[in-house]
Amino acid sequence: MSMLILGIESSCDETAAALVENGGMVHSSVVASQVPIHATYGGVVPELASREHIRIIIPVIDEALRQAGITLDQVDAVAVTQGPGLVGSLLIGLSVAKSIALVKHIPLTAVNHLEGHVMAALLEPPRPDFPFVALVVSGGHTNLYLVEDFLTMKLLGQTRDDAAGEAFDKVAGFMGLGYPGGVVIDRIAPLGDPQSVSFTRAMLDPDSLDFSFSGLKTAVVNYVRNNSIPSDPESPKVYNLAASFQEAVVDVLTAKLVRAARKHNTRRMVIAGGVAANRRLRQKLGQAAGENDMVLFAPPVELCTDNAVMIAALGYHRLKAGLVESFDVDAYSRVPSPQVRAHIDKTRLSA
Ligand code: KG4
Ligand code: ZN
Repeated sequence: MSMLILGIESSCDETAAALVENGGMVHSSVVASQVPIHATYGGVVPELASREHIRIIIPVIDEALRQAGITLDQVDAVAVTQGPGLVGSLLIGLSVAKSIALVKHIPLTAVNHLEGHVMAALLEPPRPDFPFVALVVSGGHTNLYLVEDFLTMKLLGQTRDDAAGEAFDKVAGFMGLGYPGGVVIDRIAPLGDPQSVSFTRAMLDPDSLDFSFSGLKTAVVNYVRNNSIPSDPESPKVYNLAASFQEAVVDVLTAKLVRAARKHNTRRMVIAGGVAANRRLRQKLGQAAGENDMVLFAPPVELCTDNAVMIAALGYHRLKAGLVESFDVDAYSRVPSPQVRAHIDKTRLSA
């Protein structure tokens, strides 16, 4: 039986809705970006993000329904991002999702945003078989997973300080290049020489699958100060610095994903999340896959950054497994530890 799912995403600065059938057939996808609102401040302002989500979420859902040519009555279930993210923003998506599910008497399922990102690489062929390793690189997270099936993603490593996307954004902000930084650096880096400035690659212990990007960020800041780098997005010095910084990030991400695949005896590697849109990262990982007899699966660029297709897609697999939420489901800003999770489940059962 076919299942048409309305996906809703509002964890950060994108309000998104999508209609996806059976976890893979996309009927519509609408993403309203708040970038212009936050650009003045050089980063996402949580309160402004919440207000904008409130303003735009119903029109975004209406537009997704319109583009799919259906009404709410034809939707079989709702999938919504539960966390991690900005809690005020998450609550707006979650409240709307609950309301729709309640009024229409359809099931609701709540999705982990980062696990949702992984789904973006599984929508179209060629798809990786399970198990595979996945690197989710976004504005707030740099996580490595061993993905055993749609519902079993084991965290293998994560950043100990800044996320890769955060490093892109902070470095670009410091260099006066604007926001979001990853997009600008991706655009100008090909104009510079990635070998011009040599930055240390923080590989941590030889066996580690964790990351650290704050040292690199500080190194770039010091380099700008000591070498009178202008705040000019068209200066060759800026191109060189952007290229060298990007190369350092990409080298570490590439090495760790390959390391994770080796360690967990798989040849299949997936990248996802906003930074997975980075052209140099995709190129270098593709090369590394070839050299190591591995295969890289990367989502289409438009599905790397936040969207609701990925939420509806993972929601489908949750619903198929019977994972339906009760209406007291809450948002979380950080992923709860397994201990906290167990406690929540216990209190819910005994309630
Ligand atoms: O996944 P995402 O859209 O939102 C979060 O869940 O955080 O990721 C946003 C991050 C930002 O840090 C942005 O600078 C980065 O992804 N990003 C990129 C590129 N496009 C977006 N970083 C490098 N290269 C890009 N092309
Ligand atoms: Zn994201």
